[in-house]
Amino acid sequence: MAIEVRPITPTVGADVYGADLNNENDIQDIKQAFVDHSVIAIRDLNLSPEEHLKFARKWGDINVNRFFKPVDNYPEIATVLKEADQVTAIGETWHTDHSYDLAPAMCSMLYAVETPAVGGDTAFASQHAAYMALSDGMKKMLGNLKAWHSSRHAFGVNLADEEAHADGRLGNEEKAKQDALHPVVITHPLSGKKCLYVNGDFTTHFDGWTKEESQPLLNQLYAHCSRADFTCRIRWEPGTLAIWDNRALQHMAINDYSGHRRLMHRITIEGVPLS
Ligand SMILES: [Fe+2]
Repeated sequence: MAIEVRPITPTVGADVYGADLNNENDIQDIKQAFVDHSVIAIRDLNLSPEEHLKFARKWGDINVNRFFKPVDNYPEIATVLKEADQVTAIGETWHTDHSYDLAPAMCSMLYAVETPAVGGDTAFASQHAAYMALSDGMKKMLGNLKAWHSSRHAFGVNLADEEAHADGRLGNEEKAKQDALHPVVITHPLSGKKCLYVNGDFTTHFDGWTKEESQPLLNQLYAHCSRADFTCRIRWEPGTLAIWDNRALQHMAINDYSGHRRLMHRITIEGVPLS
């Protein structure tokens, strides 16, 4: 039985039903759905950490996150947890995981272990759609720009997310020393499509511009990047594995479930330098 792929919007996202992660044909179809839709939610799984890792290794090398607390006995799996009494969620503003790395992660694989009955969705925005909606003049100007990305201000000593550092969800702030320069418009390594590649969490300024000069245009791009018609939402339930492409999307955790616990396991797969 082949997998069933149901698009969530015409622009971005698909649900995947009937997948057997041990079946090579299904894995090939899942990879194609991932390229076609940028984020896929594989439903109705029951994955142990070993099975999650085995599936992830079929996509590439695993990038061990420096800042998230690992799952006990599984250093390659990051815990993404919000307890019922915690106020902030990790990643609750629009961003791209790992854009501060020289070769940013290809994809994140987030598996839902425990979810609120309702709420705690993740929103995704197609950065190819965002690029295509720009004027020709803006496309041309951005096509000549590069931008710097950094982990220092988000995970470092001047960290933005104080609660998550204080309660141990995030750590290793002394390792937040990555700075990377990427084109503002990248050609996606798998689809060949052009995608806007700046994000509000990690981009600091355009190369050759001051931060003050960069900020107004960056703010305008951030507002544009998440326009409603570029987006979809994934609703989680235990047993959902979502795989999203960090080069094609931005995403945001929707923090609307105070009083409820949400536990996810994340594996990140290595990517390639962007051009
Ligand atoms: Fe994220």
